[in-house]
Amino acid sequence: MIKSKPDSHGCRTHLKRVDWPRMETRYQLIRSLADGKFHSGEALARSLGLSRAAIWKQIKGLREQWGMEIHAVSGRGYRLVYPLELLQQDKILMLLPSATRGTLSGLEIHDSIDSTNEYLMLQAAADLPSGQACLAELQTAGRGRRGREWHSPYGSNIYLSLLWRFPLAPIELSGLSLAAGLAVVRALNYLGVTEVGLKWPNDILWQERKLAGLLLEVTGESEGPSQVVLGVGLNTLLSDQQGSGIDQPWVDLTSIPGGKQVGRNQLAAALIHQLVNTLESFERHGLSPLLDEWQQQDLYHNKTVVLRMGNRTIEGKHVGIDKNGALLLLHAGEVKAYYAGEVSLCLNRGDEHANPIG
Ligand code: BTN
Repeated sequence: MIKSKPDSHGCRTHLKRVDWPRMETRYQLIRSLADGKFHSGEALARSLGLSRAAIWKQIKGLREQWGMEIHAVSGRGYRLVYPLELLQQDKILMLLPSATRGTLSGLEIHDSIDSTNEYLMLQAAADLPSGQACLAELQTAGRGRRGREWHSPYGSNIYLSLLWRFPLAPIELSGLSLAAGLAVVRALNYLGVTEVGLKWPNDILWQERKLAGLLLEVTGESEGPSQVVLGVGLNTLLSDQQGSGIDQPWVDLTSIPGGKQVGRNQLAAALIHQLVNTLESFERHGLSPLLDEWQQQDLYHNKTVVLRMGNRTIEGKHVGIDKNGALLLLHAGEVKAYYAGEVSLCLNRGDEHANPIG
């Protein structure tokens, strides 16, 4: 990996991120095709210094291994069915309000990485300062919550992680993941995507389908300080082939009203801005000032839900969240707080019938 020198913002871009020449050729080919226009095999071969057969082989790889939809028309060449807006450090920095830009200690963009969260966790252990952001076009081992894999194909979604250091004890950060989910909704609303909402603790949904998720990894001393790596995965454009391995209902931004016109750089900047604001405010005030707004965005508020915790299941009416980020469930006439588990809507039941079943 070649590291560039930090620029005036202390930001680095890793333009050549993998020592594997074949992968580098693949990234160059994608960059040539990103505009969605036709490019002849001959022109591509010339600019990449390859044979036309080698270009064809790469195109096959992009289609079959990476699920990219590419048109091939004889006499015209190849074109991506859906143009890609690749991430650019200078664009993202330019789109950030200057205060947020000043708060960031660095912004890295990788073509390929195992996991942006894993990367920042390792860097954090090596004393990387607070405020480092890391984006990638592709993750080879993207991590989701509860040990799930996070599908991370090249160039079409957002994979973003932020490292933040807090003077607080890890236990005081229990509401942070909910605050961060709200920050993602705020960023989407700001960009004109309004029909999205939250599912406890921090899933972002559109019509019961998952658009984005967050993974917070917290380490620290029991009395503080703590460090958090906050990872956001947001689907912007997934082909059916790319989404076929996802084990829950999903949606991409392009399919949602208002989402098509949102550029990835614009989206990355809006997410970074809202997350940085939220992290700063959380350190001072915690989750309390956000409870009303969270409730307004909460898609399951006042609905009967099922909470799964390992092999235990509770059914109840979701009556809110508390200042520690716990889910408040009403069952058997009593409200109890739950800190972990997976919530789903309880279908075919009136809310008045909320009862415990486990
Ligand atoms: C979830 O399961 O809902 C959380 C998904 C979090 C995915 C993001 S993508 C960027 C960051 N890097 C990872 O490996 N995971 C998070």
